[in-house]
Amino acid sequence: MHATPRRLTAVDRWIVAAQRALETVAGNPTALRSNPAAAKPDIVLDDVDRRHAAGLMRINHVGEVCAQALYVGQASVARDARTREQLLHAAQEETDHLAWCADRLRELDSRPSLLNPLWYAGSYAIGLAAGLRGDGWNLGFVVETERQVEAHIGEHLVSLPAADARSRAILEVMKDDEARHADNAQAAGARTLPAPIPQAMALASKLMKTVAYRV
Ligand SMILES: [Fe+2]
Ligand SMILES: [Fe+2]
Repeated sequence: MHATPRRLTAVDRWIVAAQRALETVAGNPTALRSNPAAAKPDIVLDDVDRRHAAGLMRINHVGEVCAQALYVGQASVARDARTREQLLHAAQEETDHLAWCADRLRELDSRPSLLNPLWYAGSYAIGLAAGLRGDGWNLGFVVETERQVEAHIGEHLVSLPAADARSRAILEVMKDDEARHADNAQAAGARTLPAPIPQAMALASKLMKTVAYRV
């Protein structure tokens, strides 16, 4: 008698997770906030600058795909309802980032990474593994992920072509959001991840950035 509702709940969660995965990887996610690039002039970049800006924005788009997957994976096994809510709220803000990066890639005559299904699956698995260790670990992963994303956005702000005000406007808002996500997770009781986890995450992120710049 008791097993049926529990199983349905688990199945429901998997369906929601699968829907979210499809929306993120194949769909056209809708931002709740307006695109920060809208107020900036759309200057036509020369081909070298345009391709470089597109490579950087594709990395940022993949970063947001990974963040979505990580948070949805973590939320699906979070023990405390408040932790789950916090993870899903962060995932919603990442949806704004995802939509803005996708818009900018289109403006730059480019496209998201062809490997997004792979990035999503890998990050979801990492999120699940982190979530199963408990909520302190879950939040610790959020802090580490957000700090690393904040750092690479900082590098991109330096590396972007000077004329690309629209990409820059998007990245500046994203950087502030990621810093806030990290602070919130820290305040909610994140534990500090032991070595070699942060180093392994940095290595995985370096690999992702190298590949996503091109593919
Ligand atoms: Fe983000
Ligand atoms: Fe974030």
